[in-house]
Amino acid sequence: MSHATQSYDFANPVAAYEELARDLTALLSGEHDLIANAANTAALIYNALPGLNWAGFYLYKSGELVLGPFQGKPACVRIALGKGVCGTAAARRETVLVEDVHAFPGHIACDSASNSEIVIPLVRNDELLGVLDLDSPHLARFTGADARGLESLAAIFIACL
Ligand code: SME
Repeated sequence: MSHATQSYDFANPVAAYEELARDLTALLSGEHDLIANAANTAALIYNALPGLNWAGFYLYKSGELVLGPFQGKPACVRIALGKGVCGTAAARRETVLVEDVHAFPGHIACDSASNSEIVIPLVRNDELLGVLDLDSPHLARFTGADARGLESLAAIFIACL
């Protein structure tokens, strides 16, 4: 199959995320390697969603989050559970949507261009695998539709491991 990035029409976010879910399913089909699948998932999301400056994974290893495959500028490598937006989402095991990162206590600034952020925890059979993290230079870039859409993409990623 072709892995060329196509454009998705986020004027209708539900339809765009459904299309993205189909494409992610095809992209990961038959492959179970964590790093390969995380790399392709980050690349698909980064190129599909408008208004991002970072998209990628932190993986849970030995009690902390460690930087995984991503697209964007180099980022901080280790994040303790409960710290920053990523560590908060991991500790709570729930999606954290931040409209203004500068108003989020403990936000970890990796790229000074980031103004809003969404982090989806990756949990399989009660086991924390890591988080999916997206940053945007736009304030309040992410909505509930993004949260639901990205949670469905995260579920596809987890199911392929
Ligand atoms: N801002 C994140 C750190 C990771 S970077 O955004 C890539 C946080 O506060 O956890």
